[in-house]
Amino acid sequence: MPVTLFDTHTPLAPLRAEILERISEVVEDSRFILGPNVGAFEREFADYVGARHAIGVANGTDAITIALRAMGVGPGDEVIVPSFTFYASAEAVPPTGATPVFCDIDLDTFCVTADTVRAALTPRTKAVIVVHLFGNVAPVAEIEALGVAVLEDAAQAAGSTSQAGRPGSLGTAATFSFFPSKNLGGFGDGGAITTSDADLADRVRMLRFHGSRDKVTYEHIGYNSRLDEIQAAILRVQLPHLDAWADGRRAAARHYAQAGLGELVALPVAVAGCDPAWHLYVVRDPRADALAAALDAVGIGNKPYYRTPVHLQPAMSAYRTAVELPATEEAARTHLAIPMSAVLDAEQAAEVTEAVRAASEDRPRTVLASGRDGG
Ligand SMILES: Cc1ncc(COP(=O)(O)O)c(C=O)c1O
Repeated sequence: MPVTLFDTHTPLAPLRAEILERISEVVEDSRFILGPNVGAFEREFADYVGARHAIGVANGTDAITIALRAMGVGPGDEVIVPSFTFYASAEAVPPTGATPVFCDIDLDTFCVTADTVRAALTPRTKAVIVVHLFGNVAPVAEIEALGVAVLEDAAQAAGSTSQAGRPGSLGTAATFSFFPSKNLGGFGDGGAITTSDADLADRVRMLRFHGSRDKVTYEHIGYNSRLDEIQAAILRVQLPHLDAWADGRRAAARHYAQAGLGELVALPVAVAGCDPAWHLYVVRDPRADALAAALDAVGIGNKPYYRTPVHLQPAMSAYRTAVELPATEEAARTHLAIPMSAVLDAEQAAEVTEAVRAASEDRPRTVLASGRDGG
């Protein structure tokens, strides 16, 4: 029985009629740009994450550039960012005029830590982009304790929780993506910035709107980057279901553990005190490409998302330094995303686990040791 890498269709099916009705209301109302749904979604999303303000923008990449600029990042500054992440986390830095400086991750959680950030700090560091990768929640307070401002890249962490609060409420500001495959996904591009700092929120609102409050006086070189009214209407229907979908993802992770997947490959580890809404379920295996080929052969969805880490991408050659990123390179070489969704059930998890077991029969039975244990 094939299992797809992700399933956004099944959870949305019961909401289809309501979503179509909301879209048709927007068409009828004809306020397509910054209309009532954007304003209402911004309030509802801010309440959901536990921040005072949410500002809708065109996508999660613009969100990072705009948030950094609103935090005062500009030419001559350095911004620390992990290299094991989606390319956009770092790509969004140079448009501010600042330089991305890559830092390493913790191999078990795939997230940055206070130690990996400390190793990249210089007197020019203005901010750190802390990526809550795969839905895990990086230790923001420990990183802020180094005395540096934190921008959370929460594109993959909508629905996750931590003892300190939800992603989006932990740093100076946070950014989200509503790309269709995300935990909270629209029917096109979309993004948001959350913050509890009223002045920062004010600057973000101006920057997303050509650097203007009123389209009469232009105070900054800004952007045309707004969350679309139709996307906001769609996201408003979905938001009340996000927690149940996140619980479905957590249940899927438990199904994998119960099926014995951890005896075959290294499972992702939640950061202490957090409960991830696994956006992607990413395991590690010394022969990840051979495992991928074996899963392909039996119709089990899989994907090596970041085989080439960002610092080794051609466009980033100007920003490479002598700093070594051993955990990043190990994660890049050994990771593989396997099926994960809000509706992945025990039977499907057992099916995937059996396929991994069959694939590992011709391979050495060594499960990758934990990075934390020094393995
Ligand atoms: C970690 C991370 N950061 C940033 C982005 C950029 O978001 P978008 O595709 O909405 O520009 C994404 C998603 O695509 C992402 O996964």
